[in-house]
Amino acid sequence: MKVRHLIDPCDLTVKEVEELIKLANLLEKSPDKYNSCCQNKILATLFFEPSTRTRLSFESAMHRLGGSAIGFADGNSSSGAKGESISDTIRTVSCYADIIAMRHPKEGSAYVAADVSEVPFINAGDGGHYHPTQTLTDLLTIYNLKNKLDNLVIGFCGDLKFGRTVHSLVKAMARYKNISFIFISPPELIIPDYLKKEVLEKSNIKYYESTSLESEIPKLDILYMTRVQKERFFNESDYIRLKDTYILDSEKLTLAKGDLSIMHPLPRVNEISPEVDSDPRAAYFMQARYGVYIRMALIIKLLGIKEDLC
Ligand code: NCD
Repeated sequence: MKVRHLIDPCDLTVKEVEELIKLANLLEKSPDKYNSCCQNKILATLFFEPSTRTRLSFESAMHRLGGSAIGFADGNSSSGAKGESISDTIRTVSCYADIIAMRHPKEGSAYVAADVSEVPFINAGDGGHYHPTQTLTDLLTIYNLKNKLDNLVIGFCGDLKFGRTVHSLVKAMARYKNISFIFISPPELIIPDYLKKEVLEKSNIKYYESTSLESEIPKLDILYMTRVQKERFFNESDYIRLKDTYILDSEKLTLAKGDLSIMHPLPRVNEISPEVDSDPRAAYFMQARYGVYIRMALIIKLLGIKEDLC
């Protein structure tokens, strides 16, 4: 059987995403039913960039399925620091684990890794490119909040140039009916051209760009806030100038719909004021919680474990 990897958010079909969402909701409802699904299976988490949610939710997911996790949280503690190539690291770890999740600062590193991996490989973020498991988390959250993944106006706000969670979610959501996007960012941090030309325009998706959160917020069903990605800037003064361009607070939320959902992949820095956390429209900690269940579902799927045998 061909080994299945997840590199790009569209590596899974719309139908497969639907099945994962269904399974994630079952896993949340009856976790005990699945607690030995992955007995004797090992997940390796190879993180060459900082992470709290992605790495720990992957490991929590594997433990909750009865498996175990090995790995590193800092590339400096791996042989990468001695100059080992990604391919050699992955070839080696393929001998130690049944499934691998890797985060790496270089765009495209996930393709290099998947190419040599003998076991299912999951892209847990490759530079400013894609982050497909955050996208699955986001899709599960949107589905559970709105009971649909179509007919939505979604605003993305903040660093749309470097934010991989934005790139991934835009690509995934472009596959559903009657979706429109409003991209709110400073001119320096607009969404990349390849997404506009190769994804949005090709699929005739309605979108426009704006610099004003206040003027766009009343139109939105979902507001996806993002952090300005400090680590991807070449110049610190640009980061300092741009980092607080948008701060969502209770006052701005008075302009929004009552059923807006406020999402954020986290970590947040200043872009959502803590006073917003108690607003019933805030969905970002719900997103973090769903990260475990959708990753449990993904591990089951990529390992080819039959759910009824769990
Ligand atoms: C995001 C990431 O790493 O891209 N975090 C996450 O995985 N939940 C967002 C970010 O770092 O800003």
